[in-house]
Amino acid sequence: MKILVLNGSPKKKSDTFRLTDAFLKGLNKNNENEVHIVNVIDKKISPCRGCFGCWSNENGRCVIDDDQNGILDLYKDSDVIIWSFPLYCYGMPSHLKAVLDRTIPLVKMKMVKLSDGTVRHEALADFSKIHTVVICGCGFPKWEGNFNGLKTMCKMGFVNPDIVCVPETPLLNIPEAAMVADPLLARFEKAGEEYASKLSLSEETVAALEQPMIPAEAYIQNVNRL
Ligand SMILES: Cc1cc2nc3c(=O)[nH]c(=O)nc-3n(C[C@H](O)[C@H](O)[C@H](O)COP(=O)(O)O)c2cc1C
Repeated sequence: MKILVLNGSPKKKSDTFRLTDAFLKGLNKNNENEVHIVNVIDKKISPCRGCFGCWSNENGRCVIDDDQNGILDLYKDSDVIIWSFPLYCYGMPSHLKAVLDRTIPLVKMKMVKLSDGTVRHEALADFSKIHTVVICGCGFPKWEGNFNGLKTMCKMGFVNPDIVCVPETPLLNIPEAAMVADPLLARFEKAGEEYASKLSLSEETVAALEQPMIPAEAYIQNVNRL
């Protein structure tokens, strides 16, 4: 399988990427896959200009000449795409959102109404072989609503994505927290193995991955002591 990882953390030592790395370890346990990791922050990707030149051309390419067309080539060729990024202001970091916005060359202007009542643009080609995983870390403890906006966007923007939203991820890069971080990393590795066999994650697995490492009150107390 061809696996594309879009790493949207701007940091060299990403909390979220520790989870993604563990997931990849399980997913690629037998070293049978071609894994391509793109550190989006290092790429030159301008915001979408909204010119719809791509819809006039219908060639699957963006009219802006920067690194996005290289990403689109990888995108179209992938079996699995993992979007790995920290939650920023209840959504995606802007440099990664630019990548998502500029996937519109992969759809046409033509609209279709789906049986669930939603309206989408018709895909330029059959991309049904592409499976999407979203792994998002965040700085808050688990609370209702923190990921709502992001989840809605991902469910609309991707086809049947597996979405994993993890609270308290700064703990993953704190050596003193290894006692609680290592079991979570082990669960991500196991989930990667599950994904390799089914190309999807069960509800129980997602719930286990989203389990806080420590109780919210203890997390807040520790943060406020810094
Ligand atoms: C600009 C900015 C916005 C953020 N917004 C949120 C947010 O809305 N909710 C949240 O829980 N954490 C938020 N965070 C915290 C990050 O998601 C958190 O630090 C995460 O662990 C960073 O992951 P990384 O190391 O993979 O980049 C924000 C951080 C930054 C820098």
